[in-house]
Amino acid sequence: MTSKIWGGRFQSATDAVLEAINVSIDFDKRLGLQDVRGSLAHVAMLAARGIVSKADADQIAQGLERIEGEIESGAFNFSRALEDIHMNVESRLAELIGPAAGRLHTARSRNDQVATDFKLYIRDAIDALDAALADLQRALATRALEEAGGVMPGFTHLQSAQPVTLGHHLLAYVEMIARDRSRFRDARARLNECPLGAAALAGTSFPIDRVMTAQALGFDRPTANSLDSVSDRDFVLETLSAAAICATHLSRFAEEIVLWTTPQFGFVALSDKFTTGSSIMPQKRNPDAAELARGKSGRVIGALVALFVVMKGLPLAYSKDMQEDKEGAFDALDTLALSIAAIAGMVYDMRVDRARMKAAAGAGYATATDLADWLVRALALPFREAHHVTGRIVALAEARGVGLDELTLKELQGVEPRITAEVLDVLGVEKSVESRKSFGGTAPDNVRAAALAWLEKLKT
Ligand code: ARG
Repeated sequence: MTSKIWGGRFQSATDAVLEAINVSIDFDKRLGLQDVRGSLAHVAMLAARGIVSKADADQIAQGLERIEGEIESGAFNFSRALEDIHMNVESRLAELIGPAAGRLHTARSRNDQVATDFKLYIRDAIDALDAALADLQRALATRALEEAGGVMPGFTHLQSAQPVTLGHHLLAYVEMIARDRSRFRDARARLNECPLGAAALAGTSFPIDRVMTAQALGFDRPTANSLDSVSDRDFVLETLSAAAICATHLSRFAEEIVLWTTPQFGFVALSDKFTTGSSIMPQKRNPDAAELARGKSGRVIGALVALFVVMKGLPLAYSKDMQEDKEGAFDALDTLALSIAAIAGMVYDMRVDRARMKAAAGAGYATATDLADWLVRALALPFREAHHVTGRIVALAEARGVGLDELTLKELQGVEPRITAEVLDVLGVEKSVESRKSFGGTAPDNVRAAALAWLEKLKT
């Protein structure tokens, strides 16, 4: 017999390499508090069902509470020789209360234990991310309200397309993040079934009460199938999927910040708090935080892909492969939280150069669609013909090296004689955005109303 908790049938000690590949305490120590919570619920149930004596259960609970304090204060001594968090907690319990500790593991296994612990962890992580995302939405909506009338170029193919407002652009991200939050909420709702009591894979012969433990741990109900309970890592995949999509949104925004802060765009400037310098080029103001938010999305997406690859070939029920679910998930969720905070910080702080944005909005004949629309409205041209006429006017402006609003009425009439002076009204970028009043369009009034509605909804 060896000294391991599971060492009953073993004659000699494990190889150092086995220990090295098997050990998970370096990362699953993060499940310490969840492990204690799960054990407290389990032992209370064992006592309620008469499976362990009240006296033993009280002793176990007291020991667990002491361990909880040790973990919280940082005094708990995690041992690599004890493999994982579950055995670390159990063996500390034995140190504290003696043989009664051995009764805690009745009617459960590490397989249902780890699934329960990890669900509790992911649930808390989702709640924290939701709060952080709400804060980011608040930052974006606040700035969107300020910039409701701030005209900027809207792009397709990164070519000037039609003028929009910065407020409208920022609110686009508020919408994306709303969907991210709803995806996390969905994942949370689906994961909220308790695997505890599934035991190793088949359930248990002890008369346990799974509803009781599920309720004690804040789950909606116990999981229905013991095999599924210990094999399921959907909840991690689903949470990482939501995280990967969210990180992708942040990355796209980060990319825009990188572009917008270049001297070439010059739409916004980050505050000194969110800018780094170059060790050689004294003039540089680098948007490192944005670049890192963009880059770190790779890690989040990578964690999702890695777990898919781990899971896809696993027969039911538990296999040790599944221990590989944690490091990537911890890292991805930490990384996402950090990126959210960095983006929110930049958004609150960034300075907007409205004049520069407005000038850029007019470049590239961005009001050509407004001209075509006017031809349709005022002259009843079919849109295709209006498109053609406008094209010729754009070519004329290009040849003359001026903007559309700098052409004279005479020049316009040279292309289409029925054009009247009223057309000059629609060629400016401000008029252009004001006219986009359709539901969801970029008109400043729309944007103001949408930003206010979001801020109201996001009130804490
Ligand atoms: N550390 C393990 C994990 O994270 C706990 C479950 C171990 N179960 C087992 N039968 N070896 O997956």
